[in-house]
Amino acid sequence: MSSLYLHLPFCRSKCPYCDFYSQVGSAEQLNEYVDLLILDMQVLAEVRPLTGSLQTIFFGGGTPSLLTVEQVDRLLQQSDRLFRIDTNCEISLEANPGTVDEGRLRGYRSAGINRLSLGVQSLCDHQLQLLGRGHTVADVRDSVALAQDVGFANMNLDLMFARPELTCEQLQGELDDLLALRPQHISLYGLSYESGTRFAELRTRRELVEASDEEYAEQYGLIHDRLVEAGFEHYEVSNFALPGFRCRHNQVYWRREACLSVGCGGHSFVATGWGERWAVPADLNRYRRCLIDHRDPAQRLETFDRQGAMVETLYLALRTSDGVDCRLFAETFGGLPEELFPEAFQRLDNHLCRADNRWFFKPSSWLIYDHLISAFF
Ligand SMILES: C[S@@+](CC[C@H](N)C(=O)[O-])C[C@H]1O[C@@H](n2cnc3c(N)ncnc32)[C@H](O)[C@@H]1O
Ligand code: SF4
Repeated sequence: MSSLYLHLPFCRSKCPYCDFYSQVGSAEQLNEYVDLLILDMQVLAEVRPLTGSLQTIFFGGGTPSLLTVEQVDRLLQQSDRLFRIDTNCEISLEANPGTVDEGRLRGYRSAGINRLSLGVQSLCDHQLQLLGRGHTVADVRDSVALAQDVGFANMNLDLMFARPELTCEQLQGELDDLLALRPQHISLYGLSYESGTRFAELRTRRELVEASDEEYAEQYGLIHDRLVEAGFEHYEVSNFALPGFRCRHNQVYWRREACLSVGCGGHSFVATGWGERWAVPADLNRYRRCLIDHRDPAQRLETFDRQGAMVETLYLALRTSDGVDCRLFAETFGGLPEELFPEAFQRLDNHLCRADNRWFFKPSSWLIYDHLISAFF
């Protein structure tokens, strides 16, 4: 089982709440960057070879939909040549509304993209403006309709809640509008004020009012109820899918399976020993210099020991509705979670549930996930 992540650190403009590694880039910069990604894959294949053909590929950003069809095609051809793409591979690409037209979407489909993730964020023009998004609700509707027309039958829509000024009534209306777009998958993220962003600065100056804990909880509950009622499985803290449409790539992360990445700012997990995390520093000049010299741009961030691997396994698995598979955990670590972490299990007695030889949290507990999971550290 192998997975590949490709990071595209360019956007048309920088959104004031976002601290993902991305910058405004020209067509020439993008072209040069694609050449570097091709070299990066070559180096990766030499230094950290993948085992088995690729089962999932994810183009993330930034705004990967700034890539032309030819650029996506080149990257997929190189992936297939070096790593072999499985015939059933899930190949996702993140797109921004307003950056795609029919020709581009059709071309992406022909190149092999079979899952599209669209950053909707809000279905209210006033809120989209407040979020500094370069698109309107009409752009969202057009992009979704075009994608469906050209045959995308596995689509994710991202929405943010706990936004400034957002009321529960308005959120309810936006969820209805979102469902009317007939996505197979929905990711719902509570707006976070990341340090160094314009939104964090505005909050400090009290020019933006952050949602209170009560508002956050009420909106999270409302989202869960509405989407479950509409037939979605709430299968991870922020993710909902119709049956059969869970994101396979993200499940690789949560199961702590190997996922290698290429691109400036990308992170890899290598399943050697108890596991290693690698990252490419978010510095385009350094990235370019490394690859021109045919040097590996990635640096090892962490090598896990058994204790670290156990804690991270629990941390990731308990984010999902599947939870921790006790048989697999015991096979890997030589004991059941409740035997190896007796005090944490005692502390979390009211929150941890057990069924089918698995430990899991109910979605209502996910609201205080960071607090609960600290019992294992
Ligand atoms: C890596 S971003 C890229 C998506 C794409 N460029 C876009 O903007 O539509 C993936 C998602 O993270 C979410 N996100 C970004 N910044 C966030 C923040 N500060 N708080 C909560 N969610 C955030 C947004 O929902 C976004 O769609
Ligand atoms: S939210 Fe998306 S479009 Fe906006 S800056 Fe971040 S990655 Fe770019």
